[in-house]
This record gives sequence, C-alpha cells and structure tokens, in this order.
Amino acid sequence: MTIHIPEDKLAEIRNAADIVEIISERVALKKAGKDHIGLCPFHSEKTPSFTVSSTKQIFHCFGCGVGGDVFNFLIKFDGISFPEAVQTLARRYGIQLPSRQMTPSEKKEISERETLFDINKKVLAYYREQLLSRSGGKKALAYLEGRGFTRETINRFGIGYAPDGWDNLLRFFKKEKISERLAEKTGLIVPRSSKTGYYDRFRNRIMFPIVDVTRQVIAFGGRVLDDSKPKYLNSPETAIYNKSRSLYGLHAAKDKCRENETVYIVEGYFDLLAMHQHGITNSVATLGTSLTSGHVKMLRRGYAKKARLVFDSDTAGIKAALRSIGLFMDESVDVEIIVLPAGEDPDSFLFAHGSDAFFGEADSARGAIEFLIDSAVKTHGLSMQGKIRIVDELKQPLADIRDRVARSIYIRYLSERLGVDESAILDRVRNTGEERSKTVTRSSLSAMPSESSQGPNLVKNRIETRMVTMMLQAPDIVSTIENQRITDYFEDKDLKEIAELILSDPPKSREDISQLLNRTTDDSQRQLIASFVIRDECWDQKSCEKLIEQFLSSRKRRQHLLLDQIKSAEQNNNHELLFKLLKEKQKQVVKPD
Ligand code: UTP
Ligand code: MN
Repeated sequence: MTIHIPEDKLAEIRNAADIVEIISERVALKKAGKDHIGLCPFHSEKTPSFTVSSTKQIFHCFGCGVGGDVFNFLIKFDGISFPEAVQTLARRYGIQLPSRQMTPSEKKEISERETLFDINKKVLAYYREQLLSRSGGKKALAYLEGRGFTRETINRFGIGYAPDGWDNLLRFFKKEKISERLAEKTGLIVPRSSKTGYYDRFRNRIMFPIVDVTRQVIAFGGRVLDDSKPKYLNSPETAIYNKSRSLYGLHAAKDKCRENETVYIVEGYFDLLAMHQHGITNSVATLGTSLTSGHVKMLRRGYAKKARLVFDSDTAGIKAALRSIGLFMDESVDVEIIVLPAGEDPDSFLFAHGSDAFFGEADSARGAIEFLIDSAVKTHGLSMQGKIRIVDELKQPLADIRDRVARSIYIRYLSERLGVDESAILDRVRNTGEERSKTVTRSSLSAMPSESSQGPNLVKNRIETRMVTMMLQAPDIVSTIENQRITDYFEDKDLKEIAELILSDPPKSREDISQLLNRTTDDSQRQLIASFVIRDECWDQKSCEKLIEQFLSSRKRRQHLLLDQIKSAEQNNNHELLFKLLKEKQKQVVKPD
C-alpha cells in the first residue's frame, strides 16, 4: 500500500488513538487479564475469542484469525478504505491532516465521506435553527409540544424543521458555498427530472437526524405536520448511510443497553423519542425497514444479548415480528415480543398510561416461540386441519432452536396446546432439523472459505511460526537472524515474507508494529502478524538462541535426508524420483559449513 499521508501524521494518530476505546464503541468488550475480550464481529460465535490488547494496540480473533491494528479494524468493520480510516481517527482525535502531500485519489476518497458528514452536520444546525428560532418553525414546534415532547428530548435528538418551499436548502448550500454536485450525494437535494437544477427533498417536515454510534449525522427522516402523504420520507442510501446497518437512537441507547443487557426495539421515530422521554433509554427503532441479520449481529456483538420487540397489535407489525424471530435465534439472542393493546403504539401508550403501565405490559411479554405458537393457534384454530397447519408452520422455528432443553420445553408446550402427541411433533421437527443442518453446513462452507481454514497459525509451519513470533516479541534477536541470513531457510511463503519485512525495518515499539502491519498489502499476512504479537510470551537471550539452533538443525536434518534419498534413487536407477529430489534440492539453500 503506498500511502502519502505523512508518516509523522500516522504516528501522531497511532499515539493518540486507543484501540480499546474505538472498538468498544462497536463491540462490547470485557476486561480479561491484561486484554479485553468480546464476541467477534467478523464471524459467528457464542463464547468470546475476539481479543483486544491495549498495551499492544492490536486486535486478534483466536476463532477466525482476523487481526490488525486500529486502522485495520475500522477498515474491516466500517467497510472503509485506509485513507478514510486515517481521516476518521484524525478527526476523532483532533489531528489535522495536511492535504497538500496526499495524492488526488486519496484526497478524493477522504473528502467524499468527510464532506458528506460535514454537510449533514451543517444541515442539522440549519434545520434546528429553523425549528427553534424562525417563524416558519413555530407550527412544527407546536406540533411536537402538542404531542408531549419536551425541549430536552427535542434537543437531545437534534430534531429540526425543513421549511416549506422547493429551494430553501438549495439557497443555504449556495450561501455556505457547498456545491450542488456534492450536496446531491447526501440525498438532501434531488435533481429535477425535466429541467436542469435541483430541489429540496424535505419540505415542510419535522426532521429527525439519524446518527451513528460516534454521533455523526449519516441521514435524515422527515414527517409531515398533517395527514398528507407520504407521512415519512427518509434519506436514500449514500456513501455514509447503509440502512441495514443503522438503527435509530442507538447512539443514545448503547450505554443503557449494555448495562441492562437488554434492548427494546420499536418501529418509529416518535416511538423511540417517547421511550427515551419516559426513561426507557435502552431503546432503538427500525424505521420502517425490516430488521436484518446485520442489525441483529450488531446489537448482539455490541450492546445486548436480550431483545424485546415492541409491536402495535396490527397484523403488519406481528408479521414482521414473525419474520425476524429466526434472525435472533441465529445469533442466540433471547427475544421476547411485547404486543400493545389494539390501536396503541409505544408513543401513544406511554403518553396515555406512563412507563409503569408499559413495564406491566413488558412483564407479560412472551418468548418468541410461545408467541409464535399462540399466534399460529389464533390464525389456524384448533380444528384437525388447523392443528396440522400449525405443526407444519412451527416445525422449522422449533428445529432452529439450538438449546435442546429449550426446544423440548417448547415442544411439550405445543403438544399440550394442541393435544397432539409429543413424539409425533418431535419427529417432524427432527426431520426438518436434519435437512436444514445439511444445507447449512454446505452453504456455510462454500460461503466462508476463510472461516473453514480457521486458526491460520495452526496450519502454518510450526517452527517457522515460532521463529517469526520470536522476531516480533524479542526485537534484539533480529540482528542475529539477519547476520546469519536465517530467513533464507524459510519454506513458508507468507512467513518468509513477514520475516523479511521485519528485517527490512525491525519494529521496536507498538507504533512500529502498527507501521509494520500497514507495510504489508496482504490481509492474511497482516492477520498472522497480529496473531503473533498478541500472545504474551517471555523471550530471553537463551530461549531465542535455543530456538534458532533447533530451527537450523531441523533444516540440516532435512538436507541430509534429501541427500540420502538422492543417493539411493541413483543406486536404484529411479530417474523419475531422482529428478523430483534434485528439483527439491535446488530449492533448498545450502549453507556452507
Ligand atoms: P407508523 O405509520 O407506525 O408511524 O410508521 P409512527 O411512527 O407511529 O408515526 P406517528 O406516530 O403517526 O407520527 C412507523 C415507522 O415506519 C416508517 C417511519 O420510520 C415510521 O416512524 N415509515 C412510515 C416510513 O418510513 N414511511 C412512511 O410513509 C410511513
Ligand atoms: Mn405513532
């Protein structure tokens, strides 16, 4: 990777950034000895093997092998480029990047996301000013207050107002010298289909900024003030807004989610505001899109292991609940369903009855499976036909339950509800489970080649792995390795390249390790380096020398063995074998004794 961001700037960022702090915002970490551990965000697991070292400023997953430094984490987790990761951290820690020395493509890459964040931030301030200090915003403010929302809530969530008219924001952009071409990328203005030029996407709407966990404005949603349609409009997806990875309110909910290990999931903007205003701050909203496995993974890895879905009693909401239950089970998230009385959503319920009544409803929440069973009984009835349909509908979700005890409890519950023999239900469930587990293993193998070859350090040449680990953990030995040209004997291509990379500029500190990580362009090499560095090992001069000796004598033994084999192949006139062995010998570097 050629980076034109000056090395001293990178070093400054490395010094300022704390990998534990950055990762903690996205993954729930617990202290374990000197390190922090959590559930790996890059593969599915139930026990934490994702390790973050604060002393070494490195992360590594002992399960799937991913690893690297804080830049590499952001690149992987946020799906951004190296220059973007640099910029994200620079901004975060208040470090100015000198754009002069960067290449045009780096500047462009950095500036696109940056610009979108900046524009959104300015627009947030603009909408807020319109709401709070302009006459046009009066009716919007009255609407919000009429629905019971306090100034505190309005301020906490940065609620604003987009004035009526087609070009208010356009004029604001002009005043701020923001080009229309750039502004278009935020989705806030829309090109006119007939004429040239643009118009404001949001007009005469209450504006809800959507922010990410680091509190950057990534998008907006807007509601009309009356009954006109569409009731809500949302920003389209952009370079900084990915719907299936964003949950409204997460930035304000995450601490309480972690504290309570539970997250409430509601459907709408106002529902979310109402939950927070009533003190139920471990709440997020899905905003009209259905929950994705991305959402569930994000919640599970980062914030809570239990979810309570709060739905209106209308059938659309319940259908959505049914669809998302599987997603939660896949991630081993305990999920409960709260169905509010007919005609109520969390917003109307809380303002009418208060939070105690809400918790009363929440206490009678049913587990996902119980909920599924009850609603299947409601839909199909308990006729003979109905019972057959119910079992048919539920065999898959039941088969998906991984916890055997839980599964048998639910099967008994279902058998009692239906008056159907437990073993008959069990049979159906088992058949389904077997079919599914076959297909699941097959598809997961082909979909995740890197995950099936887990623990790259295990498959690598053992002694060469030890050698490279030593070079990283005991920098003093590196000169010996160099003087004796020991890396010439390495057979594993990756390990040899890593060893040579170390020799070319031996790392002495954690900043040097981070620099080393970014000198290789090969992701698997980077992961290997992180996995070697994260181990806490104690190397003294003696143990280093012993390992080098072992390594050299094993290589020599190999050479002698090869020479013996060549001799005997010659004697036996086995030309084919001889040819092979000679070729092998050519590969070996012979050290003059
Ligand atoms: P609802 O229609 O239930 O609205 O949509 P609401 O949240 O209760 O809003 P109020 O109380 O009438 O003001 C739930 C969510 O679905 C999304 C919005 O995120 C909304 O909050 N939605 C709804 C849209 O994106 N577009 C729409 O046209 C309607
Ligand atoms: Mn509502």
